[in-house]
Amino acid sequence: MILAIETSCDDTCAAVLDGEGRRALSNVVHTQTEHSRYGGVVPEVASRAHLERIDGVVQKALDDAGTGLDQIERVAVTVRPGLIGALLVGLSAAKGLAYARRLPLVPVNHLEGHVAAAYLADPTLEPPFVALIASGGHTALYSVTVSGMTLLGQTLDDAAGEALDKGARMLGLGFPGGPALSKAAQGGDPTRYDFPVALKDKSSLDFSFSGLKTSLLYKLKVFDEGEVREELPHLAAGYETAVVEALSRKLLRAADLYDAPDLYDAPDLYDAPALVVAGGVAANASLRRRLIEESEERGVKLVIPPPELCTDNAAMIGAAVPNTLAVPFPDYLGLNARSV
Ligand code: KG4
Ligand code: ZN
Repeated sequence: MILAIETSCDDTCAAVLDGEGRRALSNVVHTQTEHSRYGGVVPEVASRAHLERIDGVVQKALDDAGTGLDQIERVAVTVRPGLIGALLVGLSAAKGLAYARRLPLVPVNHLEGHVAAAYLADPTLEPPFVALIASGGHTALYSVTVSGMTLLGQTLDDAAGEALDKGARMLGLGFPGGPALSKAAQGGDPTRYDFPVALKDKSSLDFSFSGLKTSLLYKLKVFDEGEVREELPHLAAGYETAVVEALSRKLLRAADLYDAPDLYDAPDLYDAPALVVAGGVAANASLRRRLIEESEERGVKLVIPPPELCTDNAAMIGAAVPNTLAVPFPDYLGLNARSV
């Protein structure tokens, strides 16, 4: 079995998977609540909270899977990208556990982990496919083949999740902003206010969310508190819809480009039979609805992991093991985490 650990941001996570990394036997996520009073993740607070929780979370993952450390054959851990102090807690724990039992260690890239969640959701999925990763820290489109991931386009400024978090904050909603905005948007009219979708008609596969943020800021300037409360569902719905529109448009454009992949220096697109959406923002209900409809219309296979596998978790890190080189005992003691 594989023991996987993820501590790149504000979730302390551990999971146990079968030896192939294709089935999660447990998946424990402890979301740190220490950050809510700051309206965003405070790196040093995150590191300390990971340190306090990691042993208990690993133990719970083993218990939930009905197993013990003696059954573990490989330890997988997120080594990049993320908050450096937070990553170091998970990596140190993983090194200690692996070293004590002379096991190999598998250093996983967090973004490859997000994509690997799709293999847990659909074990029949195989590269090549096009993947959209939309999280709090990243928004990018990749062509995924057996030999790795090639970047097709990415955000020029904020990540989609970051835009949702900042928008929610401007509207006085809680953190994380994505789910808070969705809740506030219920019953709202997304067309009442005009929010911009950047690079809409450009042929590039890049994203930009800074204009959207500015647009909300200017709209709010002319409202008093009472008006903001009254207009909240419409503002939230309009803002969320603009993010959903930007993400779906570019992913579907990548799908439509099967016929002209040379334009994008991505010849693998020729054969890409499927679309994958991953990262915390993929938990968004209206994004899921929109993409399910559009991909059905196009007859393209679409894999979006269930929401609990979209937001940060360790099962996805374990699922990246088959595509990641393991480091043998004891060579990984010198291995370092990286923030980018
Ligand atoms: O992947 P993730 O859990 O952590 C990072 O690696 O960043 O993504 C977190 C982001 C946050 O910005 C959060 O607001 C957003 O994902 N998010 C959502 C939803 N759940 C989480 N955004 C929209 N709708 C959701 N249901
Ligand atoms: Zn993530």
